[in-house]
Amino acid sequence: MSAFEPYRMKAVEPIRITSSPERASALEHAGFNVFQLAARDVVIDLLTDSGTGAMSSAQWSAMMRGDESYAGSASFERFERVVRDLTGYKHILPTHQGRAAERILFQSLLQPGDGVINNIHFDTTRANVEFTGAEARDLVIDEARRPNFLHPFKGNMDLAALDRVLQVEGPRIRLVMMTITNNSGGGQPVSMENLRGVRELCRRHGKLFLLDACRFAENAWFIKRRETRYADAKPKTIAQEMFALADGCIVSAKKDGLANIGGFLALNDDALAEKCRNLLILTEGFPTYGGLAGYDMEAIATGLEEVVDEAYLEHRVASVQAFGRRLTDARIPIMLPTGGHGVFIDAAALLPHIPAKELPGIALVNALYVAAGVRSSEIGSVMFGRHASLELVRLAIPRRLYTDAQLRYAADAVVDVAHRAESLHGYRITYEPRFLRHFTARFEPLEADVLAPF
Ligand code: F0G
Repeated sequence: MSAFEPYRMKAVEPIRITSSPERASALEHAGFNVFQLAARDVVIDLLTDSGTGAMSSAQWSAMMRGDESYAGSASFERFERVVRDLTGYKHILPTHQGRAAERILFQSLLQPGDGVINNIHFDTTRANVEFTGAEARDLVIDEARRPNFLHPFKGNMDLAALDRVLQVEGPRIRLVMMTITNNSGGGQPVSMENLRGVRELCRRHGKLFLLDACRFAENAWFIKRRETRYADAKPKTIAQEMFALADGCIVSAKKDGLANIGGFLALNDDALAEKCRNLLILTEGFPTYGGLAGYDMEAIATGLEEVVDEAYLEHRVASVQAFGRRLTDARIPIMLPTGGHGVFIDAAALLPHIPAKELPGIALVNALYVAAGVRSSEIGSVMFGRHASLELVRLAIPRRLYTDAQLRYAADAVVDVAHRAESLHGYRITYEPRFLRHFTARFEPLEADVLAPF
C-alpha cells in the first residue's frame, strides 16, 4: 500500500468505546439486527461506504457557495457541467440519492412482466425493479459465484448468456444494466472489454444499456491496473470511456461522489428523459435541484472531481486490499480478489456448521459486533432471499474516514472471532417486511449463549 493517506485531517470526531456486555445488550434491544443499533453504540462502523465518507476542505468550502434558488441555481449549473463532462450524457437529473434515480427510471420504463438484466442487481435496484412488477435477472459470469477463484474482472457479464436471453426473450427485456463495481458480488470490477461486449449485444438487439455507476472511479482504477491497454490512461479518461459505452446511468453520489447525500440519473434518450423529468418534478423536486440542496450539488460536483485523483484512488484501493490481506494471512475465507470498497467474508465457508437457513452471515455480523463493536452487514440469504447464491459478510470501508490503525483493529477483531468460529450459532427471523427485509427484520438466536461476552 502507498505509505500513507494522501490527505491531512483538520476536524476529528471522538469515538465512544463500549464494552462487550454493553454491546450484547444493545444488540438484543435492536432485535439482533445491526441496522437497528444506535450509531453511538458502534466503535468502528463498516456497515456501509455510502454517505459515510469524510468530505474535503474544498467540498466544505464549495458548500458555502451553494445557491439555493428554487429554479436555475448556479449550483445546479456547476453540478450539471461536472456530471456532463464526466459522463457525456445529454440529460442530467439530480436526485436525493441513488434509489430515487432507480425508482424514477423504472417507474417510467417498466411494466409488469418486463425483464431487466444486470450483472448482479444491488438490493435497492432489485427491489425497485420488482416493485413495478418486472423481473430482475442477474447474469454475472460463473466465476463470480466462486469466492476463492481468482479473476481480475469478477463483475463481468456472461456475454453468451446475455446474448441467449436477448434472443429468446428479447421483446420483454426492456433494459440491460451493469453495476460498476459489482457491489453484491464483492465490489468486483467490470472490464472495459466486457462493457464493450455488452454495448455491442445491446446495439444488435436494440436494447437500452445503462450503468449503475456509484463506484465508477474504483472501477476505472481496476481497469487501469488490470487491463494492459489502460496502464497509462488517467482514471477520468477511463471513466469517460466507460460512460460513453452506455446510454445513461444511475448514480448514488454517496459513494464515489464523495458526498454524504445525493445522486443522479443521466440519459441520452429525449423521450425517456422527459418522462423521468416529469416524475422527478412530481416526487423529488424541480429539475434543477431534484430533492437536493444547492450546497449538496456543490459537494457532489467537487467530490466527482476529487475522486478521480490517482493518489487518492491508489491509496483507497490499496488500503482495502491490505485489509483483505490481513484476513487471508489468517486463513479467513474472503471473496477474492479483494474488491474496491470493502472486504467480503465468505460466511458459509467460515461457518460450515451453520446452514444457510440458519443465517451464517447474521451469526458472524452479530458476533463481530459484540466482540469488538465493529458493525458489518450481511449480503446473503437475509438480503437476497431465494436470489442469494453466496453467504457474504461485508466490511465496507468508508472513504477517507478511518486510519490504517483503526482498520487494523477491525481486521484483528475479525481474526479473533474467526478463531472461535465453531462456537457461533445460527439465527432465525421473527419479523420481516415484504421488501428490503434486511433493514428492519428482527432475529432470534437459536442458542441462548450467543450473548455471552467474549
Ligand atoms: N446501486 C448500488 C450498486 C449501490 O451500492 C447502492 C447503494 C445503490 C444503487 C442505491 O443508492 O443508497 O444512494 O439510494 N448502496 C449502499 C450500500 C446503500 O451500502 O452498498 P442509495
